[in-house]
Amino acid sequence: MKASSLASMIGQLNKVAMGEKKADIVLKNCKLVNVYSREIMPQTQIAILKDRIAYVGKDASHTVGEKTAIIDLEEKFVTPGFADSHIHMDQYILPSELAKHSLLCGTTALFSDPIDIVSVCGYRGFREFVKMTENLPIRVFHMIPGGLPVDRKFSHARTMSQTEQKKAFELENVLGMGEVFSWTKVTTRDPNTIQSLNYILENDGIINGHTAGASDKKLNAYIASGIFSCHEPIDYDQVMERLRLGMWVMVREGSIRRDLDKIMPNVLSQKTYFDRLMFCTDGITPKDLLEFGMIDHCVRKSVSIGMELIDAITIASRNCFEYYKMGKDLGGIAPGKLADILVFDDLNKLKPDKVFVGGKLLVAHGKSVFKNAKLAISKWMTETVKVRRKFTEKDFVVKSKKNSAQALVIRLDTEIITRKDHEDLCVKDGNVIASQEKDVWKVAAIDRTHGTGQQCVGFLKNFGGEIGAFGCTQSFHENDLIIVGSNEKDMAFVANDLVKTQGGMTAVRDGKIICKFEMPVAGLVSKLPLEEAVIKYNEVDKTLIETGCRFKQPHLIPLFLPFLALPEIRILYNGIVDVKNRTYLKILDG
Ligand SMILES: [Fe+2]
Repeated sequence: MKASSLASMIGQLNKVAMGEKKADIVLKNCKLVNVYSREIMPQTQIAILKDRIAYVGKDASHTVGEKTAIIDLEEKFVTPGFADSHIHMDQYILPSELAKHSLLCGTTALFSDPIDIVSVCGYRGFREFVKMTENLPIRVFHMIPGGLPVDRKFSHARTMSQTEQKKAFELENVLGMGEVFSWTKVTTRDPNTIQSLNYILENDGIINGHTAGASDKKLNAYIASGIFSCHEPIDYDQVMERLRLGMWVMVREGSIRRDLDKIMPNVLSQKTYFDRLMFCTDGITPKDLLEFGMIDHCVRKSVSIGMELIDAITIASRNCFEYYKMGKDLGGIAPGKLADILVFDDLNKLKPDKVFVGGKLLVAHGKSVFKNAKLAISKWMTETVKVRRKFTEKDFVVKSKKNSAQALVIRLDTEIITRKDHEDLCVKDGNVIASQEKDVWKVAAIDRTHGTGQQCVGFLKNFGGEIGAFGCTQSFHENDLIIVGSNEKDMAFVANDLVKTQGGMTAVRDGKIICKFEMPVAGLVSKLPLEEAVIKYNEVDKTLIETGCRFKQPHLIPLFLPFLALPEIRILYNGIVDVKNRTYLKILDG
């Protein structure tokens, strides 16, 4: 959504406020939730010219002309639009679908960190993604991913050079740098990292943080480097440690983690200031978006814990825009601000009856009244699974000349956390094989981004389930093609299927597909409407659970297997990595 500049509008807005020019829209009979004065103002009238608010007060009749549309809101509640302060929107569904459903939930602004698009497609992908979002009916602001490479020693994800970062920063609606993942790169003053931070700060940009595990001198050094927010605190103590040092905290309530109920009860009981808190999802699955909503869910949940509704709404709106230095344009309903306005029948349910963005009515009677423009997706964005061969069983063989072999095993403790383990495995025809009895599987990481043909095959324990193989092209933040399998034949089937469809998740048993969710845009995003995506996405987890998988969210397993920022052992196409000791590990002993 394009916005006017306030500077270009002040003359006209001034005239409307004074009654010397007529408004386009007047909203009458509003109960205005005022996030500046912390009060609900009954019988309020709002006059809008083009995309901005010109007047807020008791009587806007002096702004009404022949062509002014008067909308009687019949004592409904009116709030500013909500903002998701940190979201990876390059996942699962197209930005147009996310925009549509975010608006239905009252989230009118998204602060995007497209880390995985960059991991797969580099600067070209970032530029394309910014382009894909610029004409959406929602406001999308982007951060240049600051988390790549996750670990320079092992990562092979695409990144952006300093020159590309500078070009990216010049694009419209790019505000600065997204979560600077590796705080050690900051505390050890890695020259590339410091140069990037300098450039963003010198040009008045914003830098978002990621300080999981950092405290005291390391946290101080990180913040002193110009990084003033973090969405990683998972409890109240961590929130306080950061607030004390002048940080802003994005309280996360999304699909990867839900931290709100570990934080807000103490925020309330200790009477902690709210003004440096924001809400974020950090990414949301299609299922959660449909089931829980977005920032409206954060508001409802905060209220259920005991927070005053007006405070939760302020956190959801004003605070986020003030952090991003956009307070003159967005965050509340006041003269000069962009007219991003939600109308509610019932503030407890918090399902908007109407949503205006820039004065345009986009949701009415709880339904979208805009046409979701078909997104033009460049062909190259749908050709990112770059494997130029047909996979066969041989590709998944782990050779051994012995009769049995002791193998390194990636043991799943949860879908996300792994431990280093060993198992004795049988060798058949020179191939170390998986063991159903021991719940030991083969696991492969295959380069699908660079087309090198490189791959690594190892072993995984605790997947459970009676399937042949399960694979996925989306994996944080390397985006290797990951396949877990009980036999080589089905692993090859899954690999070939995902190459054919250019991305997604596929599970196979005895050479037959048992569930499948196609994600052909960069191998990360489906082209389906949300409701259809939810069905397919749910089917994957449901099918795998029904076959006996030990975990509630099986799709997270391949997603996190290469993720170098979590303990303890990870697989990438160039080897198996001991995360703590920062070494590659041998797959077979001896
Ligand atoms: Fe994140």
